[in-house]
Amino acid sequence: MIGIGIIGCGKISQVRHLPEYRDNPDAKIIGLFDINYERAKALAEEYGATAYKSLDKLLADERIDAVSVCTANYNHCEATVKALEAGKHVLCEKPMATSIEECEQMVRAAAKNKKKLMIGMNQRLAKAHIRAKKLIDQGEIGRVLTFRTIFGHSGPENWSVDPGKGTWFFDKNKAAMGVMADLGIHKTDLIQYLVGDKIVAVTSKLSTIDKTDLVGKPISVDDNAVCVYEMKGGAVGTMIASWTYYGEEDNSTVIIGTKGTMRIYDSGKYPVEIRNIEHEKIMVNVEAIQTNDNQTKSGVIDAFVKCVRTDTEPPITGKDVLAAMRVVFAGIKSSEEGCRVEIPENM
Ligand SMILES: NC(=O)c1ccc[n+]([C@@H]2O[C@H](COP(=O)([O-])OP(=O)(O)OC[C@H]3O[C@@H](n4cnc5c(N)ncnc54)[C@H](O)[C@@H]3O)[C@@H](O)[C@H]2O)c1
Repeated sequence: MIGIGIIGCGKISQVRHLPEYRDNPDAKIIGLFDINYERAKALAEEYGATAYKSLDKLLADERIDAVSVCTANYNHCEATVKALEAGKHVLCEKPMATSIEECEQMVRAAAKNKKKLMIGMNQRLAKAHIRAKKLIDQGEIGRVLTFRTIFGHSGPENWSVDPGKGTWFFDKNKAAMGVMADLGIHKTDLIQYLVGDKIVAVTSKLSTIDKTDLVGKPISVDDNAVCVYEMKGGAVGTMIASWTYYGEEDNSTVIIGTKGTMRIYDSGKYPVEIRNIEHEKIMVNVEAIQTNDNQTKSGVIDAFVKCVRTDTEPPITGKDVLAAMRVVFAGIKSSEEGCRVEIPENM
C-alpha cells in the first residue's frame, strides 16, 4: 500500500487527486496540508486522514511514501524539492514550475534522491489522445506537416476554491504566468507527444485582452496566447491558449500529414476522426475529454501509484515536461521581445 500526502487542498485536489487516490486499491491517503488549515482539516475528516499544520510535519510522517503537489504555481518547485529531499515520490501539478531553473532543480532533486517525479499532464492520458498517438505512430496520416492545437475556456476565476477576480491565477506573484502556462503547457506538451518530435523555435504574441482584477485593471498575466511552433523534423503549426472563450470551450487538435488529416475533439460526433487521401474515414469513439464541468477520471493518479508500486519510470517524467516548459518560456520571451526564439536544448 502506498501512503499518500496531499500538498494544497484546492479544486484540483478535491475533484481529481483525492477521489482518484481513494478509488485506487493500492493507495491510502494519510495526510493533507494547505496554508488554509481549515480546508485541509475538513477534507482530512472526509477522507479519514490527518491534517497537518506545516509542510515539514507532513513530510516527517514516515507512513507517507508519495505526495501530490497541488498548490499555486509559485510553490510547485519548493514543495516538490522539499518532498523529494524528504524521500517522497512526487506527482506535481502543471505548470511544472515558474522558471527553467526551478524545473531543472526539480529534475535534479528527483535524480539525486532516486525518487519518481511525475507531472500531471492529464491530456496525454485522455483516451482520444492515446488512440491518436497510436494511429500517428502506425502511419495513418503519414509524415506530419502541419497542425493546430487549441485550449480555450472561460477562465479560472470561477474554477478555483477561492473564486473571483482576486484569484491567485490572475496574480503574477503567485501564478508567475497566465494562460500560456496554465492551458498552453497542456497543448505544447501534447503536440510534442502526439507528433513524437520537439519544438525548436517559437514566435508568439501573448496579450491581456479582457480579464480585469478586483479594481477593474487588466490582470498582471496574459489571458490569450497565439504561437507559431516549428518542430525539429520540419512540421510547423499553431498553438492557441485562451481564458476568454466565454461561449464554448475548445480543446481541439488538428494534425495534417502527407496521407491524411486527423481531427481530435474537433467535431461533434467522434473524439478522433481521420480522413485520408484514399477518401476513407476512420472514426474512433472513446470518451470525451475532461472539462471544468465534467471531471471524468484522469488516469494520472493511477499511473503515478502504479509507477511507485512497480518501481518503474513514470509515464510523464519531469524530464519530458521540461522540454515543453522550455517552449512555454521561449514563447513568453518571444512575445516580450517581439522576435522568434530558438530552443537549442530541444534541437
Ligand atoms: N492538470 C490540470 O488540468 C489542472 C487543472 C486545474 C489546476 N491545475 C493546477 O493545480 C494547481 C492548483 O490549482 P487549483 O485549481 O487546485 O487551485 P485552487 O485555487 O482551487 O487551490 C489552490 C490551493 O492551494 C493552496 N495553497 C496555495 N499556496 C500554498 C502553499 N504555499 N502551501 C500549501 N497550500 C497552498 C490554497 O490555499 C488552495 O487551497 C495549480 O498549479 C493549477 O495550475 C491543474
